[in-house]
Amino acid sequence: MNIQWYPGHMAKAKRNIRDDLKLVDLIIEVIDARCPESSRNPDIDSFAKEKSRILLLNKGDLADRNETKRFASYYAKKGFYTLEIDARNKGSLKKLNPLIEEACKPFIERNIKRGIKTPTIRAMVLGIPNVGKSTFINSYVGKSMAKTGNKPGVTRGNQWINVGKRLQLLDTPGITWPKFEREIVGLNLALIGSINDQILNIDELVFYLLKYLVRYYPDNLISRYGETVKDVEEAIKVFDEIGKKRGCIMKGGNIDYTKTAKIILDDFRSGRLGNITLEHTPGSGAESEDSEISTN
Ligand code: G4P
Repeated sequence: MNIQWYPGHMAKAKRNIRDDLKLVDLIIEVIDARCPESSRNPDIDSFAKEKSRILLLNKGDLADRNETKRFASYYAKKGFYTLEIDARNKGSLKKLNPLIEEACKPFIERNIKRGIKTPTIRAMVLGIPNVGKSTFINSYVGKSMAKTGNKPGVTRGNQWINVGKRLQLLDTPGITWPKFEREIVGLNLALIGSINDQILNIDELVFYLLKYLVRYYPDNLISRYGETVKDVEEAIKVFDEIGKKRGCIMKGGNIDYTKTAKIILDDFRSGRLGNITLEHTPGSGAESEDSEISTN
């Protein structure tokens, strides 16, 4: 399945973000812990060479915790400061302030040398659609400052929210554009709901998800649908079985795959299929198998 998606407002967002980045010392990029690489925007690396960087692995409550840990240490080795969070849960943000202090240490020390005793750190929150940027800002700032929902671009007025005495946050998160460098990225972004469902072939998307789950999370499938499956080849049988079990049968007795796919997708997105991560850390070897599953 070839997903091509780069709406005009994303080009505008790119220009806005380049401008807004000039105003900040710290970038807090929210990514989806279920597919950290696919939901991260590598362009920001070149835009923001001098900035302190924090990656928030959000929706940690839906992801495979072991994989989240692996990704966190993978990014830490690349020089990012990372934190696993569930943006809806303020408790998961407790470690963020000390992390910001640590990430901005060089900035703070530079300013202290210049005679500024308590320098204000200016930060912005970035991320592709639907990763939880607004939810995070609402939980972190404590009031409903940022409206949730997908809105393109950043407020042009550049309003700042004071967070404690040391930090100012741009009031609206910046929406970054997804990068579809590999087919699997498009599939993952579609699965987590960062791409509008209407442009997708949902049957093919969910067939890919089933192949992935058969390979890596067979127990999750079994506990949700009571299936026993052993290899990727059997994914189509799983699809059929789920369709039958859920009564998704068309006139004439054929399986209604679209209806079945919607049920499975909803189960995955809501967490009813359990904790699942859709990709593996680059260099682990398993990530090349992920691509094989998508092309089989
Ligand atoms: P965005 O600004 O990056 O576009 O994302 P937003 O905060 O609007 O969040 C997108 C959806 O993800 C929302 O669900 C939100 O509740 C959910 N969400 C955000 N963070 C987390 C998290 O850590 N864990 C889980 N499980 N969900 C999270 P929604 O159904 O679109 O809206 P709502 O009905 O919750 O308001």
